[in-house]
Amino acid sequence: MKVRDSGMPDEEMWEGFFDASAILQSFGLHDGVADLVEFGCGYGTFTLTAAGLVSGTVTALDIEPEMVKLVKAKCRQLGVLNVQAEVRDFAAAGSGLMSDSQDAALLFNILHHEEPVALMAEALRILKPGGRLAVIHWNYDPATPRGPAMEIRPQPAQCVAWGKLAGFEKQRQFDFKPYHYGLLFKKTATSCSDQE
Ligand SMILES: C[S@@+](CC[C@H](N)C(=O)[O-])C[C@H]1O[C@@H](n2cnc3c(N)ncnc32)[C@H](O)[C@@H]1O
Repeated sequence: MKVRDSGMPDEEMWEGFFDASAILQSFGLHDGVADLVEFGCGYGTFTLTAAGLVSGTVTALDIEPEMVKLVKAKCRQLGVLNVQAEVRDFAAAGSGLMSDSQDAALLFNILHHEEPVALMAEALRILKPGGRLAVIHWNYDPATPRGPAMEIRPQPAQCVAWGKLAGFEKQRQFDFKPYHYGLLFKKTATSCSDQE
C-alpha cells in the first residue's frame, strides 16, 4: 500500500528542495559504505547521488513503476552501473533484502508512514551491525512549500522515539536548511527489535 501523502510535485521543483550531495555527505555516507538501500526512491534524487559515493550497490525501491522506470533510464543515460532499481511495495512485502546485508539505509521523506516502527525495524533487520540509518523529513512547519499534512508529519523527537523502539541508537541530528531535518541512527552490535 502506498504510504499516505507520499505523492511528489514535478521533478524540477522537488530537486530544488535539497542539496542531495551535501545531505548524503553530512550523514558520512561517502565514507566506508559499500551497499545502501533507499526505501521509496521517487525520482532518484538521492539514489543517483548515493551511487557515486558508495563502493557497492544502491538498491532503490519504489511502489510506482513509473518512478523505477525513470531511475533506470537515468542510470542508463549517465552510465551508472551500480543501481538496482525495483518495483516493490515495502509496506506490504518488506525490502526483500537479506538480513545483515547493507551498510546504510535511507528513509527520506517517508516516515509519515502508517507503521513507522515496522519500517525502521525492517531497516534494522537488513543493516549490518554498525550499519547506518539516515532519515530526513520536512520540518514541522506549515509554511514549508510541500510535505505531508501536519496531522501526520512527524517531529524529530517522534522519529527518535520510533528509532529507539525499532532498536536503533540515535547518533546525530541535522538541520538541512531550508526545509528539512535529518537524523542519523546506528545499528549497534547489540541492537534488537520487538518487531523481528
Ligand atoms: C515523498 S517521495 C520521496 C522520494 C525520495 N525518498 C526523496 O526523498 O527524494 C516517496 C516515494 O515513496 C514511494 N512509496 C510510497 N509508498 C511506498 C511503498 N509502500 N513501497 C514502496 N515505495 C513507496 C512513492 O511512490 C514515492 O516515490
